[in-house]
Amino acid sequence: MRPEKTLTNLQGWRAGLLWFTQAEQPQARHETDGLLVTAREADGIVRIQALGPYRELAAQYPDLPVTHWPGLCIAPGFVDLHIHYPQTDVIGSPAEGLLPWLEHYTFPHEKHFSQPAYAHEVTAFFMDELMRHGVTTALCFATAHPESVDVFMAEAQKRHLRMVTGKVLQDRHSPDGLRDTDTALSLRQTEDLIRRWHGVDRLGYAITPRFAPTSTPKQLHGAGEIAQQFPDVWIQSHVAENLDEIRWVLELFPEARSYLDVYDRANLLRQRSVYAHCIYLDDTDRRRMAEVGATAAVSPTSNLFLGSGFFNYAASDAAGLRYGLASDVGGGTSFSPFHTMHAAYTVARQSVGHPGISLAPEHLWWQHTAGAAAAMDLSGQVGNLLPGCEADFVVLNPKATPLLARRTAQTETLAEWLFAMIVLGDERLIAHTVVQGQTVNIASQVSSFSP
Ligand code: GUN
Ligand code: ZN
Repeated sequence: MRPEKTLTNLQGWRAGLLWFTQAEQPQARHETDGLLVTAREADGIVRIQALGPYRELAAQYPDLPVTHWPGLCIAPGFVDLHIHYPQTDVIGSPAEGLLPWLEHYTFPHEKHFSQPAYAHEVTAFFMDELMRHGVTTALCFATAHPESVDVFMAEAQKRHLRMVTGKVLQDRHSPDGLRDTDTALSLRQTEDLIRRWHGVDRLGYAITPRFAPTSTPKQLHGAGEIAQQFPDVWIQSHVAENLDEIRWVLELFPEARSYLDVYDRANLLRQRSVYAHCIYLDDTDRRRMAEVGATAAVSPTSNLFLGSGFFNYAASDAAGLRYGLASDVGGGTSFSPFHTMHAAYTVARQSVGHPGISLAPEHLWWQHTAGAAAAMDLSGQVGNLLPGCEADFVVLNPKATPLLARRTAQTETLAEWLFAMIVLGDERLIAHTVVQGQTVNIASQVSSFSP
């Protein structure tokens, strides 16, 4: 006999429901009048207990308090696979590609995060912004300063969020104030932060070498050793984003077969390693990532803004390389999952260097929810509404703007309805964001920042 689960705060949510089946080829499912049942379990986490048509499920829960949102639709909270919170104020800084952008805007700006009070103000704004856009989990870069991790984790913990971040490792080709001047210390700081934060409440740690050019081989190999010591922490970095960057990597690491191979040789490729961009991989690289369970964070608004290139969906599918969507703020231009999904569609349509394809709207949505969760090895925990998933979700208002109302009313299939929201949507579509069964007040948030 299965022991009865200890449940408290049983709560019902009645609205439309959008979710994904858990299968080799996941399918989107939609229920126009659904019921989602959530409860706090013995470990303190609020999880989904049941979902289904209201008319069938409601009778099984006679005394359930129910929040009813007629005309709205509950969908999984979005998962952003790659984002930099310290680059919130770097969005929209123009440059002649990645390397000048890093040198002139990003590196100088990230130096400020040695000051915890500054880092805290940005963290709070950043998390408000994620909530307004319906993003409930993110795999996030901090900066090279350990304090930048502490303030982020503390804020995420206060808000009961599932978030993953890490101190950036960069011990060369970086300015004073951002560079790790003592490689051994940078590795000790990483280990200390893992012990302090990984697995605490809903927080996770990611070992975070910025990218191969800004780490010495000693730092990369040290990071790989820590990864072996802590098999369930994440690893995140950038790879094969820009042609000048790739030329530089191959000069710095002449022994490597490819850019990706630099990380492989340092034991930084494995399950729970997420690499941003992955534009200029070859098939050997793609197969290698697939073989070890490493995944790609596809960042189309960033790739367009920095003129980096186009992610090759067809080749990735052929190699079995798993991927999900990411904003890559501040190279990326928007926190909005709708903007990212729209850009991913547009980019996949391009036939520069490889055949253009038309990504299905259900697949685009999956890439930013259950697919991104799978890429983080968090299937069944976030990014979906199936029983057992944590109760982080968004409530969509398909009538949020006159054009959305008009266009969505004329759709006949689920695919058409989702596509209209992907193409026309922004944060106005997010009527509510619910984290751990609590509705976050997103409407009243106004920035108090004065430059
Ligand atoms: N490569 C190394 N650092 C960065 C960064 O901050 N953003 C992007 N897009 N690429 C990088
Ligand atoms: Zn990035």
